[in-house]
This record gives sequence, structure tokens and C-alpha cells, in this order.
Amino acid sequence: RQPDQSVGPDAAPAPLSGYVGGEPLRQPPELRSTDGLLEVQLEAAPGPAVIGGRTVTVLAYNKGLPGPTLRLQPGDRVRVGLRNGLAEATNLHVHGLHVSPTDNGDNPFVMVEPGATFDYDYRLPPDHPPGLFWYHPHHHGLVADQIFGGLYGAIVIDDSEPLPVARERVLVISDFTPGGAAGVASVGQAERMRGREGRLVLVNGQLKPDIGIRPGECERWRIVNSCVSRYLRLSLAGQGLQLLGLDSGRFETPRDVEEVLLAPGNRADLLVTAAATGTTTTTHSTLRALPYDRGSAGMGGMMGGSSPSTATLDLASVTVSGEPVPAASAFPRQPAPRDLRGAAVTARRELAFAMGMGMGGGGMRFTINGESFDGDRTDTTVQTGSVEEWLLSNSSPMDHPLHLHVWPMQLIEQNGRAVEAVQWQDVVNVPAGGTARVRIAFDDFPGRTVYHCHILDHEDLGMMGVIEAR
Ligand code: C2O
Ligand code: CU
Repeated sequence: RQPDQSVGPDAAPAPLSGYVGGEPLRQPPELRSTDGLLEVQLEAAPGPAVIGGRTVTVLAYNKGLPGPTLRLQPGDRVRVGLRNGLAEATNLHVHGLHVSPTDNGDNPFVMVEPGATFDYDYRLPPDHPPGLFWYHPHHHGLVADQIFGGLYGAIVIDDSEPLPVARERVLVISDFTPGGAAGVASVGQAERMRGREGRLVLVNGQLKPDIGIRPGECERWRIVNSCVSRYLRLSLAGQGLQLLGLDSGRFETPRDVEEVLLAPGNRADLLVTAAATGTTTTTHSTLRALPYDRGSAGMGGMMGGSSPSTATLDLASVTVSGEPVPAASAFPRQPAPRDLRGAAVTARRELAFAMGMGMGGGGMRFTINGESFDGDRTDTTVQTGSVEEWLLSNSSPMDHPLHLHVWPMQLIEQNGRAVEAVQWQDVVNVPAGGTARVRIAFDDFPGRTVYHCHILDHEDLGMMGVIEAR
């Protein structure tokens, strides 16, 4: 008997043949602010890109995959002229930046029609935390398609004092399926409900690039997970790894780690110290994504088995060669991050993530507190100046990573286990059948914006709510 293809499991996609990696890792072009101002023109448009030696059609900002890296200082004014060269509406979200959501700020309700332009204009607070952020489209219903097609880029906010590393690299990790004539491969309904994963995983738009480093050398890697749905459980066996922080939040002291788990939208600020072998022999190691089971949409087997990211993937190779370098100088201690655990909580609320059958065979509903997204409704109203504690709960059989715009979240607890060190994130994973607890300081920026699942197919299917700060 043939399985019902409309609801049956999608086979885990086989790796694509005919794509060849191995070229040196590139860095996207960098645009820096001068005298407190960054003015850039970004055009989102379809076009050709060479991936793994083959020419494919992608969607890109300024014809680059990823788009240019924007490098800013706290206090800067940012003016972005967005031109829409796509066939559909779009807009631009600066993920993780603490900037105003109103008017020409980071407003997710702005809609830029094909052929039109929009001028964003906002200012970073002078005490904005340094770190790695990113930008991507946010037009509800098309977010997953447009990011999957290639629309993303990194934003770096510089530290007041640069860290003593040999070099800094930005690694924007994305996944992509070639073959869409208009830049976006078509995706079935079951795959959308599970959250699509591309057949190629790219680093800065490249397939398995090579990163050269000398023995003993210390580099800073700023890594963005811009995959639409794929979790990245990153490992780099054989080299020293220290995690400086996640998202915009630097830890007070770096943590020695073996691996780092990034949900879609998360970033890692990582120190990589190449093993000093004492000889000049060339050695190789591999940046890998290890298996991570983010659950399946179960529902009586309706959507089939586990997610495709349950295989190990090689993302990049690291070649250690040349003269060993002496150990790096000591790192300046970071200022102690803000800790809300001692703060007076003004309000507590719960955000419940759920999936269920819609009425009349309309497929699966993706909800927060029982509702699918409606941009005309306000789901959560908060007072500026307040500190809130949110319990995030997930009754579904898949993980959902919650992203809150504008205000970062301090992770207090995950699945009932207290988080020891101070940890600030703007995407917090809510495990399948589990919970997470966060605290948020709504210091400033009155206005309306959103929170949503950063598996962007789920966001497009309605797992998003509107928050208004008054
Ligand atoms: Cu990275 Cu609302 O998104
Ligand atoms: Cu989700």
C-alpha cells in the first residue's frame, strides 16, 4: 500500500553529489560606521551564486551570500536603505539589537512591496552590549522562504577594548537546497510543519571551506546559526575551545567547552586555540554538527520519524600548519554582566507553545497560549521599567526556540534545572515537553513588536505573538 504522500514522512534528504568544497574560508565584505554613523544601501534580490563549484540561483543582499557584515559601535546611528528587488514583499529585522521597534526602527510590521524602498533609521544606546547580531527579512508568511533562499548577514558590535587574538572570523552558517528557479526550492507541507532543513549546510555561503591557522594561535570565531530550522551542535575535536558568550551576552569568564548547541537564530562567541604540537607537521580537524534530535511532530505518526539533523555533518576543515606561535597574552576580564536573579519581579506570565489539529482539515495549528498570530491583536502588554519572569512551556513533541525582539532574556532555568552562571540570550530553546524560565528587564523602548518560534516555518505557520511595551 502506498503511504499517503500528502501527510506521510518526508525522507531524510540524502547528501547532494556533484558539489565540491575545500576552498579557503572567505569573509563577507565589512561595512563600518564612521563618526557615529553607518549608512548602507541593501538590496534584496535573486541572482546567481557559485556554491561548491556549481552556479545556483539564490536570494541575496547586495549579491553576496551572506550579505555584508555591518560593524558598529555602541551609540551609533544606523541608516539602512532597503530596496526590494524580490518578487514578494519583504522587510528587515536586526535580530538581537536593543533598538526602538517604532516608526523607522526595528519594526516587524513594516512591509516593503516589490520594487519599493524603505529607510530604517535608529540609534544604538550608548551602553549597548558588544557582541554578534544578525539581520534577515521578517515579512510574516515568507520569512522561512526568504532566509532559506539566502537573505542574511552578520552585525558585529565592537568591544570597547579588542581581545588579544591573532584574528577574528565571522562564520554565518546556513542551510540551502539548490534547485529553486526563483532562488527558493519548494517545500512540502509536512516539511514545513517539521521545519525545513536544507540539503547543503554552508559556512559563509561556502561548502566545507578550509580554515588555516598556526599551532598555538588563538582566533575568535563569531558564529551565527541562520538556518531556518536546523539546530547546530558544533564540535571541533583536537583544538581548544572556549565559549566567551552566547547571543549578545558575554559570560564573566570564558567557559572551556567540547561542543556548543545553537538553536536557529542563536550565536556563539568562541575562542579557538590551535593545538601546539611542538613540531611543524600539518594536522587537520573538522568543524562538525553532531546529531541533535529536536523531536518530530509525532501526532500518531502523522508526520513520521525524527528530524533530518540526526546525522553528523562536516561543516569546515581546519588545517594547522606553519611555525608555532607563543601563547596569547591574558584576556581582559569582562565587566560583570547584569544579573536579574536578585531583581524585584513586577509580573509573571506563561507562554505555552502548542501544536494541534486545526478545524476543518486545515493542517496543524502552531500556537502560543492557544492563539495563532494576528498582527491586529496585542497578546502581551508590559510596562516599561518593569522586570518580568516568563515561564515558557512546550506541550508539543518538538523543541521550539523562543525569540523575543528588542529585549534580551536572562535564562534562569531549563527543564527545572537552575542555570548557574549569568547567561543572556535572545533565543531560548524550549525543549519538547519541557520548560524554560527567563527574566526580562523592559527598561526602555515603548512600542509594539513580536516574539515567536525561531523555527521560521513555525513562525510563518502562526507561532508568533504581539507584545506592546507602554
Ligand atoms: Cu531572527 Cu523575529 O527573528
Ligand atoms: Cu517551533
